[in-house]
Amino acid sequence: MLNLDQIKKDYQEALAHYKKRIVVCAGTGCIANGSLKIYSALKDSLAMHSLDVSIELKAHDEHDHDVLISGSGCQGFCQVGPLVTVEPDGVLYAHVKPEDADEIVGQTIVQGKLIDRLLYVNPADGRHCKGAGDIPFYTRQKRTALKECGHLDPENVNEYISHGGYFAARDAYQKYSAEELCKLYQDSGLRGRGGGGFSTGLKWELTRRQVNEKKYIVCNGDEGDPGAFMDRSILEGNPHSVVEGMMIAAAAVGADEGYVYVRMEYPLACTRIRKAISVAEELGILGDNVFGSGKSFRISVVEGAGAFVCGEETALLASIEGKRGMPNPKPPFPAESGLYGKPTVINNVETLALVPVVMREGVEAFRKVGVAKSPGTKTFALTGHVANTGLIEVPFGTTLRQIIFEIGGGVLDKDGKINNEAFKAVQIGGPSGGCLTREHLDMSLDYDSLGAVGAMVGSGGLVVMNDSSCMVKIAHFFMSFIQNESCGKCTFCRIGTRRMLEILTRITEGKGVLEDIDRLEELSVNINKASLCGLGQTGPNSVLTTLRYFKHEYLAHIEEKRCPAGVCTALLRYEIIPEKCIGCTACARKCPAQCITGTVKQPHVIDQDKCIKCGSCYKACKFNAISKG
Ligand SMILES: Cc1cc2nc3c(=O)[nH]c(=O)nc-3n(C[C@H](O)[C@H](O)[C@H](O)COP(=O)(O)O)c2cc1C
Ligand code: FES
Repeated sequence: MLNLDQIKKDYQEALAHYKKRIVVCAGTGCIANGSLKIYSALKDSLAMHSLDVSIELKAHDEHDHDVLISGSGCQGFCQVGPLVTVEPDGVLYAHVKPEDADEIVGQTIVQGKLIDRLLYVNPADGRHCKGAGDIPFYTRQKRTALKECGHLDPENVNEYISHGGYFAARDAYQKYSAEELCKLYQDSGLRGRGGGGFSTGLKWELTRRQVNEKKYIVCNGDEGDPGAFMDRSILEGNPHSVVEGMMIAAAAVGADEGYVYVRMEYPLACTRIRKAISVAEELGILGDNVFGSGKSFRISVVEGAGAFVCGEETALLASIEGKRGMPNPKPPFPAESGLYGKPTVINNVETLALVPVVMREGVEAFRKVGVAKSPGTKTFALTGHVANTGLIEVPFGTTLRQIIFEIGGGVLDKDGKINNEAFKAVQIGGPSGGCLTREHLDMSLDYDSLGAVGAMVGSGGLVVMNDSSCMVKIAHFFMSFIQNESCGKCTFCRIGTRRMLEILTRITEGKGVLEDIDRLEELSVNINKASLCGLGQTGPNSVLTTLRYFKHEYLAHIEEKRCPAGVCTALLRYEIIPEKCIGCTACARKCPAQCITGTVKQPHVIDQDKCIKCGSCYKACKFNAISKG
């Protein structure tokens, strides 16, 4: 029978025979920037230096080797990718190019020297950082679901086992009863990371109690939120953790079959999870008689076509069944009647990746991180006007201030310089989330605190905005997404979001009236109450929160026909400041509408009736002599 302890021991012993290990990030971001070419160049260069190189570790290998080179999943810091790390030295090279391969091998691998120009430079103080151990982006995080992503080879199951992988699944099948497992996860306080934050253990318990010889575990890897890529990174970077999480869930509820639903826009995630499943089957981890328990468990992968609503659990089940992905009223909840009418657990990728961690570390250790009602960590996709963007994972209870100014390295102003005074807002939780402001910077980020201020953890989108962002335009962007993605099944969501978008469009075009604010509020409340699924129910959140925290911006658009951030084109007004204009004619020469007149060396004038507000004059002026507002 499969002996996990032996595999772990053999692997760790074999690894000890390598002097160095090079890990090239093979996440989607780094691959797009050429990391596979870097991998080949490094291999060629290692061969040129006559080094003894392996690309895969062999068990029972008792010979010493020079270098092990492997790919990894996303290391989170895609912004400075492609990334190459050298272990055990803890070196991280950023923005690596294939041409750098010889230098990395010659200097760092052979001579143990650092290459300064490839090190990450902290924009806050200009300091060169050796590796993750001293890069603030990493040191302020607590990576749990993402811990192994970026370190282990996602295609090597033995490596996962050597990190303690599948031991929790073995315990779940050999040492615990289904009731005990459900209790353990309820005690841990683990809540779903897919948006709703429902207790994982309770969801399992509700499914376990159903009397039915057929039950399913479904992994929700749809991840439709714009800008979110945490689930994709886990599937790409540590797919076995999701397989193991599903196995434990299956043991807890008595399921013998599982599905992973991944959007087809994630080809690498699909490939890696498929490979992980087939390798686990070959090893005898998945299949009949799991860990000698007499129980069986098998997993299939279903690719979704990329509709946001298919992430909603009842729509997702319909989609797996081959029907159009539209939601159904709840109750009945999937725990009672899910896939093909059978009791079904639906859990998010990140939730499932945390499941083995909870058992491996123990309930107490898990609960020590985070806050009482939201224990553990949460991944966020940090983007927008912030110095360091990427995938991060922090304990619940971390504040926006810590995320934006410490991990994110500070806010970028409109010239791209770090200037924390330029901070304006943060949009959190994706399309269902909301916009928060300066007054929320020190609030604890957790399910309950975010809910109390009209936002939500959601899947973990976190977009930082500086003062050049127009909050009405932001609300318009998210409402446009919601309206496009509404499946049309229920009237409030189908027509209500359309009406809201029309009003927002009117306001951004300077055609809004004061009553529009009341209409937006009224529509929001009704769509929220009467929509069939979470898409409609949370869809107006961005409008409601911007109305709550940035009402003055709506009023400026409506009453003064002015966009304070200078974003809404129809409301823009470019004017030449006579005192600053030296009459160089640069603006007039660039103006496509020929609406700028004046003689050389004399202040020029813009004809407002002819101006098409393209901004060419503003960009052309080298003397800051044109005002925009
Ligand atoms: C419109 C909509 C889209 C959703 N998209 C996702 C998604 O992409 N991934 C996800 O895990 N959950 C998504 N959810 C939440 C799921 O319906 C469900 O609550 C979740 O998968 C349960 O897993 P958890 O308890 O582990 O969070 C979405 C919900 C709604 C209403
Ligand atoms: S893909 Fe390499 S760091 Fe994200």
